[in-house]
Amino acid sequence: MQNSKLKTPPIPDPLPRSPQPWRLGILASGNGTNMAAIAAAIATGQLHAEIAVVIYNNPGAGIVAQAEKYGLPTVLHNHRDHPTREDLDGALVATLKQHWVDWVVMAGWMRRVTAVLLDAFPRRMVNIHPSLLPSFPGVRAVEQALQAGVTVTGCTVHFVELVVDSGPIIMQAAVPIFPTDTPATLQARIQVQEHRIYPAAIALAASGFSAID
Ligand code: GAR
Repeated sequence: MQNSKLKTPPIPDPLPRSPQPWRLGILASGNGTNMAAIAAAIATGQLHAEIAVVIYNNPGAGIVAQAEKYGLPTVLHNHRDHPTREDLDGALVATLKQHWVDWVVMAGWMRRVTAVLLDAFPRRMVNIHPSLLPSFPGVRAVEQALQAGVTVTGCTVHFVELVVDSGPIIMQAAVPIFPTDTPATLQARIQVQEHRIYPAAIALAASGFSAID
């Protein structure tokens, strides 16, 4: 395996915790490996939280199997059934509130959010993105980095704002790009870092860390 001299940020040990476990609502569109990493961190006691509900928008998404593995409730909100983004977000808010969610965690949620959702969880929504934001926001961030010819990319956890992949940064990890990389090999290495930093970033954000104060 190729060796990297890049440093990734230290993760506080132990992670911050609240008296009551934080109730997380996961929003996901795909495989759910980040959700699984969060669930594993909870299971081992690293992250003092519980996943109250997993909401997904694509029928057949891999995250359903991951959620079943951890015995987590899943709710399908298929965006194709909603006439507007606001209508979808209204349905998401209703489900999140029904499950008494404190923090909304976007884990591969590939829908734009509206003020309907943001206003229901002010500064209580986080997202993970497979690049070192503000570089390469939007879709196909891994391919964007390869095409740009940069030698370092990574992943970012940030508070959610209306503009896609904007918002104050909570934690980042750098990942080197090797000349032999394909989108698949690079994404795999980025995901290793995503799974490492997401539980830690959630703990930091929920314990009152503010990137803007
Ligand atoms: C992750 O790599 C995440 O960074 C990305 O989707 C993937 C989901 O993987 N999110 C975005 O691109 C958001 N702009 P997962 O379903 O295996 O957790």
